[in-house]
Amino acid sequence: MPKKSLIAALLGSALCALSLASPVMAAGKWQHMDQAEFEAVLDKKFADGAYSKQGADNCLMCHKKSAKVSALFDGVHGRVDNPNSPMAGLQCEACHGPMGKHNRGGKEPMIVFGEGSPLSAVKQNSVCLSCHQGEERMAWHASTHNLEEIACADCHQVHVAKDAILDPTTEVETCTNCHTRQGADMHKRSAHPMDWAGMTCSSCHNPHGSLTEAALTSTTINDNCYQCHAEKRGPFLQEHQPVMEDCSSCHTPHGSVNDDLLQRRAPQLCQSCHASAHNGNPLFNSGADVMTAGKSCLNCHSQIHGSNSPMMGQHAIPLGR
Ligand code: HEC
Ligand code: HEC
Ligand code: HEC
Ligand code: HEC
Ligand code: HEC
Ligand code: HEC
Ligand code: HEC
Ligand code: HEC
Ligand code: HEC
Ligand code: HEC
Repeated sequence: MPKKSLIAALLGSALCALSLASPVMAAGKWQHMDQAEFEAVLDKKFADGAYSKQGADNCLMCHKKSAKVSALFDGVHGRVDNPNSPMAGLQCEACHGPMGKHNRGGKEPMIVFGEGSPLSAVKQNSVCLSCHQGEERMAWHASTHNLEEIACADCHQVHVAKDAILDPTTEVETCTNCHTRQGADMHKRSAHPMDWAGMTCSSCHNPHGSLTEAALTSTTINDNCYQCHAEKRGPFLQEHQPVMEDCSSCHTPHGSVNDDLLQRRAPQLCQSCHASAHNGNPLFNSGADVMTAGKSCLNCHSQIHGSNSPMMGQHAIPLGR
């Protein structure tokens, strides 16, 4: 069976050759094996390829009491009518590896996933990737999540009717469990509506990695913003250079204590690049109403993203009134 040998090849490693005597097989003890030991035993099992003849039926003899295990059959991986499904092939062992001598009282370990698994993320993930190396996960190997040893099963659940991370109303919660800073940002005064409106972290990010910085779903930060703020793309007769180059020179994507997701407030925001604008003009001396009241520089330069109005001649940002 080709899947069998593929998974075995992915999991097989140099560790195979090392000592396999496994004196640690006392009942219940394998949970306490260290990673190298655990992986060596699994490698040996893959090399032997001792899959169970009865498949899932065999496993369920001992595991059917667990509601969690049975819930597999409520989800996509438990369907028998899909020719690519685990159930159409090696069944439970497509993910958990060959049974070997595990059925002798559960003594020999199986592949275990998720938090607390003694197995490296890379080895756990190779199981999932053996069926899921699609276009969406093209950039997985170079992704920060892979390099940080995040497991597929840290985000995904398969022994469930519906995987919570695929539901827009629960995705963000899973992400912010680890990304607490972005979680805090989204509750600031100005933020993207990530707790409603179906907008999620993956509206902007590909959690499986991408070729763009910060694993964005588009090729540049600006392209990302234009997906939903197309009116900011222009073209404008009078452009404002930083707007065309990088929205994040003025905005933060996740949340800000300032209005409009601004990194800083005007005039400081503007003066970080225009230190000398209006210098020497008494109208703009520090403390002048026009600079402190209302929207400061934006009192006059109101169309900060660019404009088609020709009224200002060589002036890129027309006055607003
Ligand atoms: C004869 C009974 C028996 C059979 C058959 C059996 N298991 Fe187990 N399995 C056990 C026992 C006992 C444990 C250890 C449970 C514990 O320590 O909580 C276990 C543990 C596991 C674990 C680890 C669970 C955890 O929380 O760490 C997995 C995964 C597993 N079995 C999968 C399978 C699969 C897949 C099959 C079929 C190929 C299978 N088992 C067949 C008895 C069995
Ligand atoms: C698509 C891959 C996949 C298949 C197929 C699969 N499992 Fe699992 N199994 C997992 C993952 C991932 C976990 C970790 C928990 C989770 O994500 O739901 C897990 C967890 C478990 C556990 C530990 C449950 C616990 O209480 O923590 C057992 C036991 C188990 N599986 C047995 C089985 C049995 C028996 C079958 C076949 C009926 C099976 N699995 C089929 C991927 C799979
Ligand atoms: C034997 C092949 C196989 C393995 C191994 C496998 N899957 Fe799948 N997976 C499928 C199939 C088939 C589907 C149904 C969709 C499809 O046809 O592509 C699916 C669907 C999914 C989906 C989409 C679920 C949905 O509700 O739409 C996720 C997420 C997923 N798998 C994650 C995993 C993870 C995580 C692992 C490893 C723990 C894993 N898969 C292992 C075959 C597999
Ligand atoms: C950081 C969390 C996270 C990790 C880690 C992760 N995923 Fe996903 N995955 C998601 C989210 C969110 C979605 C739904 C949105 C999307 O498709 O971008 C998804 C969607 C999917 C889907 C269904 C849609 C599709 O793209 O086909 C599959 C299959 C899948 N992931 C497999 C995997 C596999 C395999 C791994 C490990 C190599 C993995 N995922 C790792 C979060 C994650
Ligand atoms: C199990 C913990 C964990 C979960 C869950 C998780 N991440 Fe991460 N993520 C990390 C770690 C660790 C890093 C690297 C350090 C950092 O940038 O915070 C990272 C980095 C990132 C980066 C920066 C990528 C880069 O290349 O610079 C993005 C974007 C990201 N995660 C998005 C998400 C999204 C979206 C989700 C939910 C679908 C998610 N993460 C869920 C742990 C996690
Ligand atoms: C509106 C689009 C958008 C949404 C929604 C979004 N991000 Fe981001 N994220 C970005 C951009 C753009 C960057 C690039 C860095 C920057 O300029 O701040 C980024 C950067 C990151 C980084 C890298 C570290 C950093 O802050 O620079 C992480 C981690 C991250 N995002 C996680 C998340 C998580 C988790 C969520 C959901 C709570 C999320 N993002 C929602 C656009 C978004
Ligand atoms: C998936 C769609 C989507 C993407 C991508 C997106 N936005 Fe938004 N943005 C929204 C929505 C929805 C709102 C709320 C609209 C409203 O309140 O009228 C919003 C609001 C804003 C606001 C106003 C916030 C406030 O407090 O009123 C700013 C500024 C903004 N976005 C900037 C950006 C930037 C910069 C990017 C790129 C990093 C970006 N957006 C990417 C959908 C998106
Ligand atoms: C030079 C600084 C600067 C840059 C760069 C910038 N903005 Fe803004 N943006 C502002 C300021 C200041 C405001 C609030 C004043 C206003 O309403 O025009 C604002 C407001 C917004 C708003 C909310 C109000 C509205 O006009 O809808 C959105 C959405 C927005 N910006 C998107 C973007 C996008 C998308 C980009 C990149 C294409 C971008 N901005 C680049 C300064 C900037
Ligand atoms: C990230 C740097 C940056 C920020 C922040 C910034 N600008 Fe600019 N701005 C530029 C650049 C670069 C140009 C084009 C080059 C030039 O003429 O100085 C420009 C051009 C202008 C012009 C037209 C100048 C002319 O001679 O035609 C005005 C007016 C202006 N900006 C106002 C503002 C205001 C108001 C803010 C604050 C809301 C702001 N800028 C924030 C970089 C910035
Ligand atoms: C009372 C209205 C008003 C306010 C407030 C204002 N400007 Fe202007 N600004 C103008 C006018 C009118 C021009 C064109 C005539 C000129 O060059 O003086 C101009 C020109 C500019 C120019 C291009 C010429 C130059 O001096 O480089 C920049 C850059 C600029 N303003 C930035 C700013 C910044 C930054 C602020 C806030 C600190 C600001 N402006 C506040 C009215 C205003």
